[in-house]
Order: sequence, then C-alpha cells, then structure tokens
Amino acid sequence: MTTVEETPTEVGGVPVMQVTLRIKRMNPEGVGDHAPGEDYWEEFHIEAHATDGVLDALHKIKWEQDGSLAFRRSCAHGVCGSDAMRINARNRLACKTLLKDLNPSKPILVEPIAGLPVEKDLIVDMEPFFASYREIMPFLMTTGPTPERERLQSPEERARFDDTTKCIMCAACTTACPVFWTDGQYFGPQAIVGAHRFIFDSRDEGQWDRLEILNDKAGVWKCRTAFNCTEACPRGIEVTKAISEVKRALNTGEI
Ligand code: SF4
Ligand code: FES
Repeated sequence: MTTVEETPTEVGGVPVMQVTLRIKRMNPEGVGDHAPGEDYWEEFHIEAHATDGVLDALHKIKWEQDGSLAFRRSCAHGVCGSDAMRINARNRLACKTLLKDLNPSKPILVEPIAGLPVEKDLIVDMEPFFASYREIMPFLMTTGPTPERERLQSPEERARFDDTTKCIMCAACTTACPVFWTDGQYFGPQAIVGAHRFIFDSRDEGQWDRLEILNDKAGVWKCRTAFNCTEACPRGIEVTKAISEVKRALNTGEI
C-alpha cells in the first residue's frame, strides 16, 4: 500500500505537491442525491507538480477520477480565452494559473464565471456575452472604394487602440463586473473594449454609430468604475481606461 511518506517529493527536479481542488458542480440532469440543476461542491485530491496549472489539475481529475467533470479549454496557452473561471474567488484563465501560486496547502476553490447561466459544472452559456459584442459591430466600417493596397496608418494612430486589440474574448472582465451581475441589460466591459478597438482606429468610419450604441441606457454610463474588470483581465488590458476614453469621446464629441 502506498503511504504519504512514499510519495516522491520531486520528479525530474520539479517538486511534487498534494493538492485539493474544491469544485462547484452542477448537472442539468441531476446526479446521485443532487437534483437537476442543483449546485454542490465536490473535493478532489491529486498529486501535482509545482509547474502544473489549474487546467492540468482539472485534466488530471477528468482523466483519472471523474470523466463527467465539464469545463472548456482549447489552446492551454492563454490565447483562445475559453477557460476563464473563478479560482479562489478571482476570475482567471485556468491554463495561466499555476497551482504553486494559489497557496496549495489549502483547498483551491474553482467555480464557473458569474453572471452567465451555467450549463454544466464550469461551462457557462456565453451567448449573452457574444450578443453584446455583436451589438457594437466589431468589424471595420468604411465608405468609398476599397484601396488597391492596404489602408495606411501611422505608428501613432495604431498606438491609440493597441491595448484593446489584445482582447481574447474570455469574458473574465464582464463576469467580474458587479453592474453586469445585477443590471441585466449592461453590455459589460468586454463589449466596450471591442468597440474601443474600432472607435479609435483611424481607418474606421463607423465610430459615431458605435458611440451612439454605447451612449444607450445599456452602455458606458452604467460603468461605476469599480476596476474589477481591469484586475480580472488576463491580458493586462487597461479596461477601465478604455471605458473612460469612450466616455470622454461621448462627452467632448472628439475622438
Ligand atoms: S478585455 Fe481582457 S478580460 Fe475582458 S474579454 Fe478581453 S481579454 Fe478577457
Ligand atoms: S485554454 Fe486557451 S486561454 Fe486557456
């Protein structure tokens, strides 16, 4: 029988840790004593390496202990934005969050992002989030003939919206926003970031259409500058600053 003392303390020079994940689960069909749609917490104990991320731990649980555990992921490198979840009460990407940075001597809490309907375990229905993004028309709008070569832009013009081009649509910002949780209509920070990327693009001619949409009762004026969005963004985008720039454009009429 394997004892705790026999567990290797490192493998290939990488420390090994015993970690507990406490995961918030929900099965729409019900499971065991749990009614359909009921949330409950379940603990899993795993052996992990110090270099493992939360996504590695979730894979280990799914592959070795409970194949029914449901979560989204794709790239595992912080690029696709599909594995945003609430880890120790903060929105983060599971693939970019190392277990060793989460005080693994205590159970690590993992929950779905808040404010969107849960479909199963850590998977939420992203459609309301994408619907807000579609509202702001996230594509280049131009008039006149298409140039034979590229639409020119100076480095200074490009720099105006560089930060908001980094968005990976993970929804960590929007689902960290207390107004989004409670309001029911607010577009949310990500839709404003998506609009900012085009409003301040010198090649775009749809700025005022987008600003008019964001001037609506579901738009930027709902923002209470809580900064939760900026803290949550795994790409380091200054989300609150982008929202302020959109508000300033509406107040001054200048872009
Ligand atoms: S702004 Fe940041 S947190 Fe919000 S969706 Fe984009 S990448 Fe995710
Ligand atoms: S799995 Fe793609 S961002 Fe984490």
